[in-house]
Amino acid sequence: MIINTARFVISSPTVDKCPSENMHEYAFIGRSNVGKSSLINMLTGKKNLAMTSSTPGKTMLINHFLVNESWYIVDLPGYGFARRSKDDRAKLEKMIKGYIAGRSQMTNLFVLIDSRHKPQKIDLEFMEWLGENGVPFSIVFTKLDKLTPTAGKKLIADYCAELLERWEELPPVFKTSSEDRRGRDAILNYIEEMNRLPLQ
Ligand code: GTP
Ligand code: MG
Repeated sequence: MIINTARFVISSPTVDKCPSENMHEYAFIGRSNVGKSSLINMLTGKKNLAMTSSTPGKTMLINHFLVNESWYIVDLPGYGFARRSKDDRAKLEKMIKGYIAGRSQMTNLFVLIDSRHKPQKIDLEFMEWLGENGVPFSIVFTKLDKLTPTAGKKLIADYCAELLERWEELPPVFKTSSEDRRGRDAILNYIEEMNRLPLQ
């Protein structure tokens, strides 16, 4: 798919404030600092579209970006950022889960996992919650440029093997780097295919 235009539309504090049009929407979620905003910039080819930062917890709202005037990308706040107060974490979790469970336009949720780390409880529990709630999702391994090809392959294979102990089958898996742009075509082709499906 060719990206002709991509622009920021709105930041919303709750799902009921999000854009009301019935368009396909793809949201990106994962732990703080996993690379959600960087991936969105890489996919759209716009360096400063979503705000990135080496300080975790930068994204605090539900951010909508309109692509090719016909579908949305959504940048969500990261979960599990330890240096936030309990109160703030609970508020963010409510916002994130409210959006995911309540947004009928959301065609697919991309769950980002830092490819350098072994499976973390917080991600596994989050994916379990998605499964229980029937949320369609895919897994995106990020920052593969930070690993050698051999190490990357092994970490991802081990991760998938652990998932298969809990799940009967794996969701679609994408291997990416926002630095060298790998995985871009695979994700955009996947989105293009889903854009052809009728919205519910
Ligand atoms: P929050 O909004 O705080 O939850 O973070 P985020 O998940 O949006 O992460 P963000 O895109 O802001 O990236 C966090 C840090 O990781 C930044 O310093 C990025 O430059 C770096 N980063 C993101 N993706 C990659 C990647 O593919 N490769 C490398 N080497 N660094 C990356
Ligand atoms: Mg971000």
